[in-house]
Amino acid sequence: MGDDKKDQKQLSSYLKAKNISCNSHYSFYWLMSKLIFLILAILFSLQFVFYPLNFISSSSEPRSLIKFSVSPVGSGSGSVHEPEQTELKHVVFGIAASAKFWKHRRDYVKLWWKPNGEMNGVVWLDQHIDQNDNVSNTLPPLRISSDTSRFKYRYPKGLRSAIRITRIVSETVRLLNGTESEKNVRWIVMGDDDTVFFPENLVKVLRKYDHNQFYYIGSSSESHIQNLKFSYGMAYGGGGFAISYPLAKALEKMQDRCIQRYAELYGSDDRIHACMSELGVPLTKEVGFHQIDLYGKLLGLLSAHPLAPLVSIHHLDLVDPVFPNMGRVNAMRRFMVSAKLDSASLAQQSICYDVDHRWTVSVSWGYTVQITRGVLSAKEMVIPTRTFIDWYKQADERSYAFNTRPVAKSACQRPRVYYLSNALPDLALHRTASEYVRYDMWEPECDWDMSDPSEIERVIVYKKPDPDRWNKHRAPRRDCCRVLPMKKNGTMVIDVGTCKDDEFVEFPVK
Ligand SMILES: *[C@@H]1O[C@H](CO)[C@@H](O)[C@H](O)[C@H]1NC(C)=O
Ligand SMILES: *[C@@H]1O[C@H](CO)[C@@H](O)[C@H](O)[C@H]1NC(C)=O
Ligand SMILES: *[C@@H]1O[C@H](CO)[C@@H](O)[C@H](O)[C@H]1NC(C)=O
Repeated sequence: MGDDKKDQKQLSSYLKAKNISCNSHYSFYWLMSKLIFLILAILFSLQFVFYPLNFISSSSEPRSLIKFSVSPVGSGSGSVHEPEQTELKHVVFGIAASAKFWKHRRDYVKLWWKPNGEMNGVVWLDQHIDQNDNVSNTLPPLRISSDTSRFKYRYPKGLRSAIRITRIVSETVRLLNGTESEKNVRWIVMGDDDTVFFPENLVKVLRKYDHNQFYYIGSSSESHIQNLKFSYGMAYGGGGFAISYPLAKALEKMQDRCIQRYAELYGSDDRIHACMSELGVPLTKEVGFHQIDLYGKLLGLLSAHPLAPLVSIHHLDLVDPVFPNMGRVNAMRRFMVSAKLDSASLAQQSICYDVDHRWTVSVSWGYTVQITRGVLSAKEMVIPTRTFIDWYKQADERSYAFNTRPVAKSACQRPRVYYLSNALPDLALHRTASEYVRYDMWEPECDWDMSDPSEIERVIVYKKPDPDRWNKHRAPRRDCCRVLPMKKNGTMVIDVGTCKDDEFVEFPVK
């Protein structure tokens, strides 16, 4: 954490230096605002010149003038019919936990849980624990699941807790029944104690759907074999899933009967899937929910995230920390620094070229920058590299439920990787500045006669926050990035933002 402070200092002094160099911008805006003020002042004074004239020409005019100035305020009522958009307060979380692991895993929940009533939800445990160390006000309330001994469980070597966990949806509905807070509930969202949610992004996904209808939203596993074994139509529980409240109520009515029919199933999520199938409700797939049935480094996956909001990451105890050289919780905490600044853009990839050096640059905003020798196509760069292995410890491309590419065999073709070290708002210019520092994951040895990206120690990325990028009126599109002229040895500066007219990923030939 001491390192974080140093990074913070470095980045803010860098920002200060930049702001000074941007003074020309500043004075331009200053001049413009002065000009606009002057124009407004003139218009305002003209009104007083014309008003008496109006008054003379027709005595009824002043009334209509007053009416006109009042009506825009009244016309705001036109929006009354538009339903309020979904916010965090409309979501109730059900977190599946166990007394055995809670003391450790609550650290993951603390990373994303907003206390003081900003979020609603319950952590469901199998038995009582003492939580007398006063962390409870930063965490959701704890509850003990009701007894499930009357239910059959026949999966060989499985865990009966699957029944307890699958019933969290029904138990949550019964908990809410008839309460004041029930009126606000639109969605029940399930997750595990080792799932980290990005709540703003979750809300952005839910906003696209009508909560009055029956929706079952989540994603399948990264492992093709898992999906063959369970189903491509099942929402994996660790990645988390959302059930619209009317559907949760319908499920509550039949779930206890339903799960008795599926004693042979393994988990809690395949029981939900079985009951959803009986209800005739399919999975609505949203690829930002991540079950993470993987081992190793998430680098490849999170540096080429699909063009969708990052909603959740699961199995944090099984994969390497998201940032190297630090603990898992601290690494996730660093990721949250980016999430706070521009959650919608978290881990969104943009691709550009350093023309002078003939390098391909890939930015995963708030996470990594990678620089590779040579010109690689956008089509290739959007494919995750296999820095991980699958759930069954297989490493070939057929193990995954999505396209992957291998880490290059030749050292020369392997990227230099820069991990986020810090991110700050640049308030003066309404943008964020994030800094990425090189981490040598692979031997840099290479005998190609071309510039070595290793001469770059750190990368600064400027970007305007874009909270509306997943708005249903905007088609998904990757940002564009631009490598700015290098001012300081060893530091690359990149601008990231929505693509301009006619801008796309192209290597310009001089
Ligand atoms: C927890 O905080 C409450 C007040 O918020 C205090 O009364 C209580 O003694 C604290 N308990 C512990 C174990 O620190
Ligand atoms: C909700 O409460 C009402 C009134 O107490 C009761 O009739 C109903 O069965 C309850 N429904 C659920 C789902 O618990
Ligand atoms: C930048 O660094 C390189 C290699 O470290 C060095 O050869 C070059 O002179 C430096 N340029 C400036 C402007 O400092």
